[in-house]
Order: sequence, then C-alpha cells, then structure tokens
Amino acid sequence: MSAAVNVSGSLRRRLLLQLVGSAALLAAVLFFAVLGFVRTVAEESHDRILLASATSILDSVSVQAGEITADIPYAALSMLGNVSDDRVFYRIASPAGVLTGYADLPVAEEPVQPRQPLFETAAYKGETIRAVTVSRRLAAQGAPVAVQVSVAQTRTGQAALLEQLFRSALFLGVGFFVLASGLAVWAAQSSITPLRSLTEAISRRGPKDLRPVTRPVPAEMSPLVLSLNSFIRRLQASLARSEDFIAEAAHRVRTPLATVRAQAEVTLMRVENEDNRASLREMIRAIDESSRAAGQLLDHAMVSFRTDSLERQEVNLTALARDLAERLQPVAELKDIGLHFQSDGDVSIKGDAILLQNAVRNILDNAIKYSGRDRTVRVRTVRNGGWGNIEVEDEAGGFAGEDTEALTRRFVRGANAGETIGSGLGLTIAREVAEAHGGRLIIENSQTGAGACVTLCFPLC
Ligand SMILES: Nc1ncnc2c1ncn2[C@@H]1O[C@H](COP(=O)(O)OP(=O)(O)OP(=O)(O)O)[C@@H](O)[C@H]1O
Ligand SMILES: [Mg+2]
Repeated sequence: MSAAVNVSGSLRRRLLLQLVGSAALLAAVLFFAVLGFVRTVAEESHDRILLASATSILDSVSVQAGEITADIPYAALSMLGNVSDDRVFYRIASPAGVLTGYADLPVAEEPVQPRQPLFETAAYKGETIRAVTVSRRLAAQGAPVAVQVSVAQTRTGQAALLEQLFRSALFLGVGFFVLASGLAVWAAQSSITPLRSLTEAISRRGPKDLRPVTRPVPAEMSPLVLSLNSFIRRLQASLARSEDFIAEAAHRVRTPLATVRAQAEVTLMRVENEDNRASLREMIRAIDESSRAAGQLLDHAMVSFRTDSLERQEVNLTALARDLAERLQPVAELKDIGLHFQSDGDVSIKGDAILLQNAVRNILDNAIKYSGRDRTVRVRTVRNGGWGNIEVEDEAGGFAGEDTEALTRRFVRGANAGETIGSGLGLTIAREVAEAHGGRLIIENSQTGAGACVTLCFPLC
C-alpha cells in the first residue's frame, strides 16, 4: 500500500541552489576584483614609463650660450614604442613659449611643480591620449626659467591590453564558477547521503521488523531518529494490544455462548411442552448463529491483521490439508459424508500457516455444510506449473447460475444457504488469504457437475 506524501521542495535542490548562487556571487566578485586590480597595475606601469620618458627628455634639456636646447635621447621615445605601437607626442615648453614638439598638445599650460608630475587623460587628434608633464628650473641669462616637458601616448595598445586582461579575468571568474558548482553538486549530494541510506535501511526491513534504528547518523538527524524510534515503540505496543484484544475477545464471546447453548440443550431434554421446546430450539439456533458470526468476525479481523504484515515461512500445503481433513472427519461422519484426501507429493509454499489453515478450513467447512447426507468430499493438493493448489470438490449441487465473484464479498450468502447457519464470511477469508500470498481463489462447478470445486492457488517458492 503506498500513501501519497505531501512533498514540499527538495533539500538537495535547495542546498544546491544556495551553493551555486553563492558560487556565482563569489565568481562575480572575483572577476571585478581581478579586473580592477590588473587595470590599475597596467595603468600605473604605463604611467611610470611615460614619466621615465618625460624625465629622460627633461634631463636632456640644457642651457647653452644662454639658450635653452634639448637633445632628445633616442631611448626616451623608444621605451614607449616598446610598450605598444601607439603614437607618441611630446612638447617642451618654457614660459616664453613652446620650444619644440606638438604645440597644440592638450596638456597643462600652468606651471607644474618640480618633482610633481601631472598625469592627464585627454582627447587629441580624434584619439584618447594619456599624458604626463614634468618641470625643471634652469638658469638662463642669469634668471631661473621653468622648463616643462610633456609626453603623451595614444591608448589603443592599452585598450587592447585591457581587453585581453578582461578576457583573462572573465575566464578566471567562469572557471571558478564551474569548479565551485561541481563542488556544490558533490556537497549537496553527500550531505543527503546519510538521509538516503537511513531511508533505504528502513524500507529494506521486513513488515514485522520493528527494531529501533541504531545505525550511526549525523547529529542533525538524531531528533528524527529519536522520534522514529519512539513511534516504533508506540506501534509495537499498539500491535501487541490489538493481538491480545482479538484473542481475548474471541475467548470472551465464545465461551459464554457455549455455556448458554449447553444449558439450553439440557433444558430442551427436560422440557416436554412442544411450544417451549420449539422456543428452546429457536434459542439454540440463534446462539449457534451468534456464535458462528462472532467466530467468523474475529477470524476475519485476525486475517486482516495478519495479512497486513504477512510473515512468511515454509509451509507444506499437503501436510496442512491432510491434517485439516483428518480433523474435520468427525464432522463429516455426522452426515455420513466420505471425506477423502489425495496428493501427488509434497507441495510447499512460503506463507503464514495460521492464515492458510483458516482459508482451507472455511472451504472444507462449506463443502461439508452444503452437502446432503451420504455424499463425498475430495481434498487434493497438486502442483500445476509454478502453482501449488489445494482443491476441494464436493457433491453439494454447486453454484447454479450464481455470481461466484459476489460470494467472496463480505456477508454475501448464496441462494442455497437457506436455513444453514453461516455469516457469509468464509469465502471472503479464503480469498483474502490467497491474495495476501500472491495467489487466487477459483470458485467453479466440478467437472462431474455434481457439486462445486473450490481451489486455492499459491505461487510455489
Ligand atoms: N461448496 C459449496 N457448495 C455450494 N455453495 C457454496 C459452497 N461454498 C459456498 N457456497 C455458497 O457461497 C456462500 C458464501 O459462502 P461463505 O463461506 O462465504 O459464507 P457462509 O458459508 O454462508 O458463512 P460462513 O461465514 O459461516 O462460512 C454460501 O452462503 C453458499 O451459498
Ligand atoms: Mg462458509
């Protein structure tokens, strides 16, 4: 029996989402941090080369014969060419005007403090340039003159370098994310593994296995296992109570009824008045009806209880049927019924012997109960392919036009039941026992047509 479970989300999925979400966040932070860092480093190193170039030009500026001259060293500009193929501009200026270089270079016009380079980013000739201006005081014609050297470079190479760095940072971020996601899947999987193995261990148990759970579990799962063990204890106690109740109820109902019946029989022997005798006979019949109904109801309750948690052991159907036939022999003899047992060898199945006895007894009881005097009832155990069958054949007239399927429903009795004492539960019990063992109950007329042939079929072990 499987009951629907009210499922709300999945622990594994929730954990996975949280871990992958955190990994994505960390990957984004890593990407921007790395990108910011390398961009700063690239810009700073470029600025440093610009400064070195400007300083080296500034060092080459001198005063000769009262005139400011500059002998620009080759290395001053070539060091910039080594960094990238970007265009380089320079300008040497004094307060008197531009001495050499690009006069329109958009750099600081105001005097720059010596040893304090001024870096600027500007647009020039349709491109973005990075420029640095350094200054130095020279003595010309007896007066100090501030000479300013500006060096600028376009930023195309820088942009290409930054794009490459961007790709590397992106690759790093994505790589981190993929790796962290893989680890997240593994972590989510392994964190629910104890839960899964506990579930498997419990579902592998047999239906009667009500031992407490003792396998080691993580601390977070201990409240669950404690509640489960407490539930198992309560279930055990409740099952034990039900079993005791069924046995106790059967005893308490049957015993007083048997006493009342015996008293009524004794009184019947003493009473001579015909009206009183008829009343007593009716009383005895009512007691028999009640006793049978109580017995069958309790048997049915016991069958339902035991089939719910079927305990299977090897049962020899041949020995079981032979034993029952022998026990019912005295009942059959009361009606001069010949009760014969036949078998073609041992037939064994895995099942609950008490339930199987109950089923066969009900079928045999019917065969004897519905047969007239001097008839024959045959009990056979046979192997038929993968099945072990117990067949009970009688000469009681069979099921003329009856819906045999309906006769296996609770409290349904056939048209032939008449005055026969019964409660309509015998075939229900037999069918439920057969089905609980994976078998079935076949109700049909015998081949001779003289009566019924009721067969219990069970799969062989
Ligand atoms: N061997 C049989 N021959 C003819 N009719 C049968 C036979 N077995 C069962 N029946 C019919 O099937 C009906 C249902 O049988 P079932 O054993 O379930 O109930 P019951 O015999 O009436 O009562 P009880 O619960 O006391 O056995 C019977 O009332 C009877 O009409
Ligand atoms: Mg019956």
